[in-house]
Amino acid sequence: MKEVKVAILGMGTVGGGIYQLIEKEQKNIEHKEGIRLEVKKTLALNYAVDVPEEKKAKDIGEIINDPEITVVAEVMGGQHPAKEFIIAALESGKTVVSANKDMISQNWPDLEAAAKRGKAGFYFEAAVGGGIPILRALQDSMQANSIDRIYGIVNGTTNYILTKMDDEGRDFEDVLKEAQALGYAEANPTSDVEGYDARYKLSILASMAFHARVPVDRIYCEGITKITKLDIEIGRELGYVVKLLAIGKKAADGTIEVRVHPTMILKDHALANIKGSFNAIFINGSAVGEMMWYGKGAGDFPTASALVSDMVYAVHHEPKYATFENTYEADQVQFNDDWITEYFIRTTVQDKPGVLAKIAGILGKHDVSIESVIQKGAKKGETDAPLILVTHKAHEKDLNKAIEEIKQLDAVVDVPSCIRVEK
Ligand code: HSE
Repeated sequence: MKEVKVAILGMGTVGGGIYQLIEKEQKNIEHKEGIRLEVKKTLALNYAVDVPEEKKAKDIGEIINDPEITVVAEVMGGQHPAKEFIIAALESGKTVVSANKDMISQNWPDLEAAAKRGKAGFYFEAAVGGGIPILRALQDSMQANSIDRIYGIVNGTTNYILTKMDDEGRDFEDVLKEAQALGYAEANPTSDVEGYDARYKLSILASMAFHARVPVDRIYCEGITKITKLDIEIGRELGYVVKLLAIGKKAADGTIEVRVHPTMILKDHALANIKGSFNAIFINGSAVGEMMWYGKGAGDFPTASALVSDMVYAVHHEPKYATFENTYEADQVQFNDDWITEYFIRTTVQDKPGVLAKIAGILGKHDVSIESVIQKGAKKGETDAPLILVTHKAHEKDLNKAIEEIKQLDAVVDVPSCIRVEK
């Protein structure tokens, strides 16, 4: 039996989950894995669960300088002091497991270098998809594949909001307020609703799937704040569901396309039926074909499931760093920001002759071909009406130029939505 002493940095929801999960599954892990995990120390300002006083460290030094502690779980979140604590733990040779997608995706090279200096393992399965074992699957079970496509619903908060908007015909602000009151969305929801959280996760996921470093700032990012119930309703009429997707594509020549934005997908696609706060990640591998993982992307025990699994994995294996040896650095990669997709464009126009022709003319001039048009009549007493166009495949840059020109037309009041459509 291997005795493994663990420290947990951060004792909020996830830290508390790790603490309780280790207690709950200790015997089972002993039996299955021959490892006895024991939390020796914790470090936190606030504790979500009861922890005996002797297990509360006064400072990080008490953990770093304790040779008995060989595994450190960092679940404090944020950049600082999480980064410094992780680096100190790695340099002292301790395995680090972390769920901190924000910090990892933006400091990966520094963390990896510290891990190599300390010959320590660095694992972060929980950073993408919470309890879904996607990173391990990519690293340890898909070596025989080249991956060319990723579509992920990797943010539970936005999926919950979009699901409610769709199921109950409600607007974004209204559902967000309710989600905050119920604790499904943070008091400051920016990182979730603006797509930043999904972008951090895509940076990690795409880097590992494509064996090329995909920096956060190379990922196009648009959140869900401008999605309205009208977009969702008309999308449904056309056979689509709106999801916040993290999309990664790798072309045969190695060019990478990475983007996070609201996306209309066909309503019978597997991802369209991922409801509420669940996550799902859809991947195409050259040998295995299409696959999808589904599960809980957040929460105490789902996230702790991935973190404790990383601990067990680390004990059984030589140190791993999710290393980028033999893969491409960002400056060796061509990123494509002029992707080709279809578009759902919702305009508000004056309901009078010739408007559609002018809009169609501008789209045509920019090489954007129209697939279908829906005109909703003006409401009684109003002269403005929604005019919706769905395009065939077009270049992002052409489409944007066309939209800018369409907005200048006298008869066009506004272009409130432009949602990419992926089939
Ligand atoms: N805020 C995240 C989500 C939690 O809503 O999915 C886990 O990263």
